[in-house]
Amino acid sequence: MKSIELPGGSQMPVIGLGTWQAKDAKLLGSAMEAAFEAGYRHFDTAFAYKNEDIVGKVIAGWIEKGLVERKDLFITTKLPMIGVHPDRVELFLNKSLKSLRLEYVDLYLIHFPVCFKYEEGKDIVVDEKGVVQTEPTDHIAVWRKMEEMVNSGKVKHIGISNFNRHQIARILDNAKIKPANLQVEIHPYFQNNELVDFCKEKGISVVAYSPLGSPGTNIFLKQSGLPSRDLPRLLDDETILSIAKKHSKSPAQIMLRFALQRGLAAIPKSITASRIKENIDVFDFELDESDMNKLKKLDKGNEGRVCALRSKGVIDHPEFPNRNELD
Ligand SMILES: NC(=O)c1ccc[n+]([C@@H]2O[C@H](COP(=O)([O-])OP(=O)(O)OC[C@H]3O[C@@H](n4cnc5c(N)ncnc54)[C@H](OP(=O)(O)O)[C@@H]3O)[C@@H](O)[C@H]2O)c1
Repeated sequence: MKSIELPGGSQMPVIGLGTWQAKDAKLLGSAMEAAFEAGYRHFDTAFAYKNEDIVGKVIAGWIEKGLVERKDLFITTKLPMIGVHPDRVELFLNKSLKSLRLEYVDLYLIHFPVCFKYEEGKDIVVDEKGVVQTEPTDHIAVWRKMEEMVNSGKVKHIGISNFNRHQIARILDNAKIKPANLQVEIHPYFQNNELVDFCKEKGISVVAYSPLGSPGTNIFLKQSGLPSRDLPRLLDDETILSIAKKHSKSPAQIMLRFALQRGLAAIPKSITASRIKENIDVFDFELDESDMNKLKKLDKGNEGRVCALRSKGVIDHPEFPNRNELD
């Protein structure tokens, strides 16, 4: 498995298994087993996904059976929105480590730059008008605590997710330990070129989330009672389909290969064994210059974004990262 080297020499495998929206112990457990069998060693979870205990149990099983050593796995988890406060970084990291049954995680990310109001036992506090309640946050103070977590040995690397360029630059200007990674939405319809170039220039590795355009998100929104919209269907895109046909690969494999050839890692989520296998089978072919150019032209900029958190209250927070898109 190819990997991206992080500061200090650790290796982040370029394909990882995403686990958002996978909360059923049986389904996620068998998905992780299928992934392990297919060669995945990189797993992406988050406190907010409410599945760290499932992920942790499966990993503990592999280690106990001697199938893998801890050092050969790459586990990412994330500080939730209710934790983006210096007093809560260690609290939430400890909760994650306990659920994951791990002594350390390889990568700990601040999930989102806005701090949601914290009330014990709640993920989100919403008032009677449906406005998400938030709190002020100071990214530099939070980052100091993230750095302390590295020094304590509970975390190998720290990074950010969903932060914009200005927010990352401010952390870089004040950091003792620079962010090792940015995790952000990236797929052919939302290529996020400026941000990727910025991170490359600053030596920050980038992981593409929703690398297939998150085809399950609309179903999730409908099931959660949240407003859903017509999301782009990248799996049916004519250009992607024709490149897939040319290489005898699937549309998903073309999208993942596109990310890898841009120097990114990607964390496709699936609970379907055949898809999990398919998504890591992307190392035996190469997109040529003409394929790459055709795929680059599919970028729709902000129009192509799928995972946009636009809830009332969140968009009013001073650290809401995508304000310019609302203008
Ligand atoms: N940091 C953040 O804020 C953030 C936000 C979003 C996502 N993420 C991370 O990134 C991961 C991936 O993003 P995502 O889950 O939004 O979307 P995604 O990986 O782009 O798409 C996942 C969806 O595609 C389907 N799928 C997977 N492989 C396929 C294939 N080969 N052919 C056809 N369909 C396929 C899956 O269905 P089945 O599962 O039914 O097979 C699932 O519905 C997440 O799971 C999470 O770990 C992070």
